[in-house]
Amino acid sequence: MQRKRVAILISGRGSNMAALISAAADPDYPAEIALVVSNRPDAAGLARAKAARIATLVIDHKTFGKDREAFERALDAELASHRIDIVCLAGFMRLFTPWFVTRWRERMINIHPALLPAFKGLDTHERALAAGVKVHGASVHFVVPEMDSGPIIVQSAVPVRDDDTPDTLAARVLVAEHRIYPLALRWLAENRLSVVDGRCNVAGAGDRAEMLISPSP
Ligand code: GAR
Repeated sequence: MQRKRVAILISGRGSNMAALISAAADPDYPAEIALVVSNRPDAAGLARAKAARIATLVIDHKTFGKDREAFERALDAELASHRIDIVCLAGFMRLFTPWFVTRWRERMINIHPALLPAFKGLDTHERALAAGVKVHGASVHFVVPEMDSGPIIVQSAVPVRDDDTPDTLAARVLVAEHRIYPLALRWLAENRLSVVDGRCNVAGAGDRAEMLISPSP
């Protein structure tokens, strides 16, 4: 099977990007990371991508002022010229217009540091602790126009401990993020995902999906 060409969009540190790059270093992985785009020139992840010899681009949203669609048209043109099949948002901190989301419908996925639909938005770990939940985690989902919504592809749960701080909880969730994002991209690149009535089904996932939704020991 032809490997799918993937662009990863980042705004910051890029640890999820690095997890995808390292998964795709395996020649048997069904996707290759063809491009990393940052909307911030100072994103630390850019250096990590360059070190892995991945093509990088900065499309600074600030240069487009309030014109969101102009930023998205510039991005879309770059994705087309790099013949991108799939877009992965990895800590990309900008919302898209319905125009861009519709263009990339079921070809664009995002990772969110919470068990959606709980704790959409920012500061998820602080809010999970404040709510007193005992189980927290991460979700990978298809992108739809509403923020942090869209059919859920895979989730991983982690326990919340009594002595957790937002930082210790974030670190535990990040390990789960790095585990599930490469898995979700693999399934998408293998054409195993189908969305029916807002739910995402994974062909042939079987027991593996069951295991991922269980808390780690
Ligand atoms: C990750 O925890 C990711 O889930 C989160 O930002 C962090 C980026 O870290 N994304 C969101 O909050 C999107 N709603 P990274 O740059 O090291 O991957």
